[in-house]
Amino acid sequence: METRDLPDVLAIENISFPNPWHETTFRGEIQNNDLSYPLVVIHRNLDKVIGYIVYWKIREEVQINNIAVHPDFKSMGIGEAILGDVIEEARAESVHYISLEVRPSNTAARGLYAKLGFELIGIRRNYYSNPDEDAIVLGMSLS
Ligand SMILES: CC(C)(COP(=O)(O)OP(=O)(O)OC[C@H]1O[C@@H](n2cnc3c(N)ncnc32)[C@H](O)[C@@H]1OP(=O)(O)O)[C@@H](O)C(=O)NCCC(=O)NCCS
Repeated sequence: METRDLPDVLAIENISFPNPWHETTFRGEIQNNDLSYPLVVIHRNLDKVIGYIVYWKIREEVQINNIAVHPDFKSMGIGEAILGDVIEEARAESVHYISLEVRPSNTAARGLYAKLGFELIGIRRNYYSNPDEDAIVLGMSLS
């Protein structure tokens, strides 16, 4: 992800989430080279961003902080490809553990995470707002 990708990224973010990340958050992730890995999927012919993921790598752990696919390109395997690549990259870099949070109501994301092998770690009560919801914490051991 680069600064020039932000209009496309924000358009996807704003339709995908009730509490979307602000532009300054994405800018912060782009600048936070030590910790953050913000990646985009670009449609070759359209030359626009159709998906992205933002994750942090802290020592041997990866935390997935954001993932979204443009609604026009959902259910085509793009989310699985992005997250699958991150898992492979993490494995290659000797990461031991990957974690993330998801709304219980987010059937699509939960389906994706289950397919890739994430398992239930626990529940964070009242984690989300708009609407209020717990967070399901999922994790995957790579070692
Ligand atoms: C979650 C999201 C990234 C999935 O991306 P996608 O590109 O549409 O997903 P894929 O086509 O790669 O699907 C991979 C697997 O995920 C699961 N999945 C995807 N969409 C699903 C749906 N609507 N219902 C149930 N399972 C679904 C399936 O297991 C699917 O495998 P299959 O095609 O063999 O059945 C996408 O729906 C999205 O951007 N949602 C809005 C943002 C969001 O909620 N992000 C996650 C926050 S925790």
